[in-house]
Amino acid sequence: MLDKKVVELLNNQVNKEFYSAYLYLELSNFYEDKGLAGFANWYRVQAQEERAHAMLFYQYLHNNNEKVKLETIEKPDVELHTLLDPLHTGLKHEYYVTGLIHTLYDAAHSVKDFRTTQFLDWFVKEQGEEETKAHDLITRMELFGSDPKSLYMLDTELKARVYVEPSLVL
Ligand code: FEO
Repeated sequence: MLDKKVVELLNNQVNKEFYSAYLYLELSNFYEDKGLAGFANWYRVQAQEERAHAMLFYQYLHNNNEKVKLETIEKPDVELHTLLDPLHTGLKHEYYVTGLIHTLYDAAHSVKDFRTTQFLDWFVKEQGEEETKAHDLITRMELFGSDPKSLYMLDTELKARVYVEPSLVL
């Protein structure tokens, strides 16, 4: 049986990951509207990844005979104006999610729940990678985004991103 606080945080993470999917879909939505199909694709794939993360937390709870409580998913809370806004929103959100994962890790570790810390190891690594990707995209957009030809090339590159199922096996 898992610790009550750890279960509460794991359950909360199901909701946060679904919210992340919804937020990224909104970023994709913004770029669709601007005619940047590559950026839209990038965030649509990101939304798929977040949904998969939610399902991993969902399945982990079930595998441990814990009930999952599905809560309301909030409306994406963002103001998007410039082409850089979604990128900053994405990075800021990833920092926030990293904080949630670390709090969860800390709670599991403090009650010696090593099964959960092992499960979370994958997410700790994943968050590092996602922060790097989000950061790199900002750097590239700042470098090339104001030149239409370069923006077109960057958009074309981002169109190639395809969804890959997370490698974590439960
Ligand atoms: Fe699933 Fe990038 O948070």
